[in-house]
Amino acid sequence: MIVTTKRLFEHAYGKYAIGAYNINNAEQIMGMFKGNLESKAPFIIQISKGARAYTDKRLLEGMIRAADEIFPEAIFAVHIDHGDEETCMDAIDSGFYSSVMIDASDENFEKNIEITKRVVDAAHAKDIVVEAELGQLAGIEEDINVLEATAHLTDPKQAKEFIEKTGCDSLAAAIGTSHGAYKFAGAQNLRFDIIEEIQKLVPNFPLVMHGSSSVPQEEVKRINDAGGELKGAKGVDENDFSKAAKLGVTKVNIDTDGRLVWCRVHREMFKDKPEVFDLRPAGKIFMEEYAKYIANKNKKLGSAGMLEEVRKLVK
Ligand code: G3H
Ligand code: 13P
Ligand code: ZN
Repeated sequence: MIVTTKRLFEHAYGKYAIGAYNINNAEQIMGMFKGNLESKAPFIIQISKGARAYTDKRLLEGMIRAADEIFPEAIFAVHIDHGDEETCMDAIDSGFYSSVMIDASDENFEKNIEITKRVVDAAHAKDIVVEAELGQLAGIEEDINVLEATAHLTDPKQAKEFIEKTGCDSLAAAIGTSHGAYKFAGAQNLRFDIIEEIQKLVPNFPLVMHGSSSVPQEEVKRINDAGGELKGAKGVDENDFSKAAKLGVTKVNIDTDGRLVWCRVHREMFKDKPEVFDLRPAGKIFMEEYAKYIANKNKKLGSAGMLEEVRKLVK
C-alpha cells in the first residue's frame, strides 16, 4: 500500500527512523520488499533523477506497482530523491508519487525558498508531501560536485525561517555526512547539535539525514579481496541512527550500502566461478543478500517490527 511519508513520520517521530532506500532495477525492488516484510518495517522507496533515466521512469514505476500487488502487506511511500523543479513537477503530475524532494540547496537562500515554495504549492494541491534541503552535503550528487571544503552545514535559525516560508513537510539538514563511500578522511564528526537546535526551534518537525550509508568494513574487505579497489572507504556509525531518531530524524537515506552489496555479490560470483556467464545466478544471490541487508538496517533504524502499528494508523 502506497502512503504518504507524512503518515509514516507521524508514527515514527522521536522514536525511530524510516529507511529510505534508492532503487534502480527489478532485483533491488524484489530484495527491498522481501527485506522490509521479513523485518516487518514500513519503508520509503526513493528514485533519483539518474535512476529515472537509467532505463525508463515508467519501467521503475510499473515495477513498483507490480511489487505492490505481489506484496500486498507492504506499507511504503514512493519518493523522488534530490529532484530538481522539473522532475518534481513531472512526478507530481504523474499522480504516482506520494512524496517528492526538491533539492535547490545549491541556490542561495532566497532562491531556494522561491523554488521550494513553488513545488510545495503544486504538491500540496494534490496531497503530496515535500522534503526540501538547506545546507549542503559534501561529496558527489548526480551532477553537482560539492567539494568537502565548500560544503556548508545547516544553520538552525535559517532552517526555521526556511520551513515557515516554504511550508515544506520535512527538511534535509546537512550535519556533516556526505554521499558515497568516502565520507570521512579521519574520525566521524557528525553535528548532532545542529539537529538538536533545529528540533528546539521547530518542535515536532520531521528531519531527514542524507548520506547515511555505514560502508561496512567487512563488505569493503570482501569487495577488495575479490578484486575491488575501495581504499579508505568509510561511513556513518549505524549506532548513531537511534540518537538521530530521538532528535526528530524520521527518514534516513541509504543508497551506497546497497550498491556495495551488489558489488560484493557480483565480484565474488565471477571470481569464484569464472565459468559462469548467466545473469540469474548472481541476481538470485543478490536479491537474497539485499533482503538480509535491508532487514538488518531496519533493526538499526528501529523501524523493524513497526509495520502492524503503522497499518492500524493508515487503514
Ligand atoms: O544522493 C544520491 C543518491 O545516492 C542517488 O544516486 O543520483 O547516482 O542515483 P544517483
Ligand atoms: P549514501 O550515499 O550515504 O547511501 O546516501 C544516500 C542518499 O543520501 C540518497 O539521497
Ligand atoms: Zn541524498
